[in-house]
Amino acid sequence: MTTASASPAELSGGAAGQRVLVLDFGAQYAQLIARRVREQNVYCEIVRHSITAERVRELAPIGIILSGGPSSVYAQGAPLCDPKLFELGIPVLGICYGMQLMCQVLGGNVDSNPAGEYGRAECEIVEVDGLFAGVPKQTQVWMSHGDQVTGIADDFTPLAKTSTCPYAAVKHKRLPFFGLQFHPEVTHTPEGATVLRNFLHGACGAEGTWKLGDFAAETIERIRQEVGSDRVICGLSGGVDSSVVAALLAKAIGPQLSCILVDNGLLRQAEEEAVVAEFTQHFKTDLRVVKGEDRFLAALAGVTDPQEKRRRIGHTFIDCFVDEAKKIKGAKFLAQGTLYPDVIESGAAVDGPADTIKLHHNVGGLPAELGFELIEPLRDLFKDEVRRLGLQLGLPEEIVWRHPFPGPGLAVRCLGEVTKEKLDTLRAADAIVVGEIKAAGLYRSTSQAFAVLLPVQSVGVMGDSRTYDNALAVRCVNTDDFMTADWSHLPYEVLARISTRVINEVKGVNRVVYDISSKPPATIEWE
Ligand code: XMP
Repeated sequence: MTTASASPAELSGGAAGQRVLVLDFGAQYAQLIARRVREQNVYCEIVRHSITAERVRELAPIGIILSGGPSSVYAQGAPLCDPKLFELGIPVLGICYGMQLMCQVLGGNVDSNPAGEYGRAECEIVEVDGLFAGVPKQTQVWMSHGDQVTGIADDFTPLAKTSTCPYAAVKHKRLPFFGLQFHPEVTHTPEGATVLRNFLHGACGAEGTWKLGDFAAETIERIRQEVGSDRVICGLSGGVDSSVVAALLAKAIGPQLSCILVDNGLLRQAEEEAVVAEFTQHFKTDLRVVKGEDRFLAALAGVTDPQEKRRRIGHTFIDCFVDEAKKIKGAKFLAQGTLYPDVIESGAAVDGPADTIKLHHNVGGLPAELGFELIEPLRDLFKDEVRRLGLQLGLPEEIVWRHPFPGPGLAVRCLGEVTKEKLDTLRAADAIVVGEIKAAGLYRSTSQAFAVLLPVQSVGVMGDSRTYDNALAVRCVNTDDFMTADWSHLPYEVLARISTRVINEVKGVNRVVYDISSKPPATIEWE
């Protein structure tokens, strides 16, 4: 399998070819660090902490960042780095665990601090230039550590301290090595971006020329070269990732693109229409809509177990997709919307971290024997970059900012057996929930909002008559990464409007409840 994606750094010569490597020591912060570096217009990739110095030399980064991590550097089995990294002459910034590791490798001491230091801390900068140029002498930083550096080698000098941490920041006296005990990548460190910029532009000589706009133009050119005169199939789901892939391909190879949208009958209200309008009227692609509702409903008839529902939906999707794909003659490539976090989590990244294998939700499972070569033009991008790219390519805000939607669609929000009637009820209620959240101006500040139809009936009274109808749950969450999530503290007025409208307008629902569970221990979806 090949991919038409190369890192933008490889695509562009000269200064745009600069890249920074983040060595991942198991912190949830590694991705955030990479994003912050890219925000400074410097291309950045995350690699395993165990990458060899030789491989780093080949990749020729302008700088290396050692991420934080949950371990103690002195614990057995703690993740280490190749000590020869410090012999390459490449600037290094160690953050939290990364700082402790660097200091230890280069002759300092690390110990646990019984009190630890968690949350905001007042930091005093003792050397207000270089790494801290432009930062006030007293500044707030975000700390999260039990261990800390307790002694530095003679080659090092302190740059900052807090009341309990004598080495909140250090630098090497001769070499471009820096350590920060605090986290510059989080917004709770207000001057964090300045410190990162000083490292990148000062120590690393970054020119800051990486731009998403260049990425689009270069990726389009790259796709043209790779595809030549062949045909590409792209599965459209209605979500932002597949829409951006299709838009990129449409710009790159227009008439050689065939898109397949499987209408599984489990989509949200007006979702299919919006995608069809966009890709037939605006992008004018060859879009084939597979009318699969009956097949999906037949496969789901009588099934109540959530995992079994997912399994059957997955198989039916593959059947529908493959049947349609076989009708498209001469197709050589299959495009999919794999993102950088998927690549990292699947362990497929060049030198990437992580042991777990996560199939890409939306297209995962398409059989390899179809024999297509893969094109994954978004595999270097984070979700927010994909959204920005979508806007640059001219996709409407409605598609670009749409909340994520699970592959099995409304089936996992229609608890118990799935029927057309229940789906129609849920679709109508969901449209009201989302519509009211949008009307209140809360759609962009919430991560996912939807309705769940419960298999619970309760007594109500409508006018003069007694009802015995379904209950509907409203779920709305805020999250950065969908791994953990908090329920959104929606204003009561918005909840009241949703409840009144759903009960008045949606036949079959006489009660609305709001889900106030966080993840964990709950999940975002109910099934
Ligand atoms: P949970 O329910 O696990 O969901 O907290 C986390 C995020 O993943 C989405 N999700 C899925 N997406 N196929 C998908 O494409 C699936 O089977 C699936 N299950 C959950 C969910 O909507 C949320 O954004």
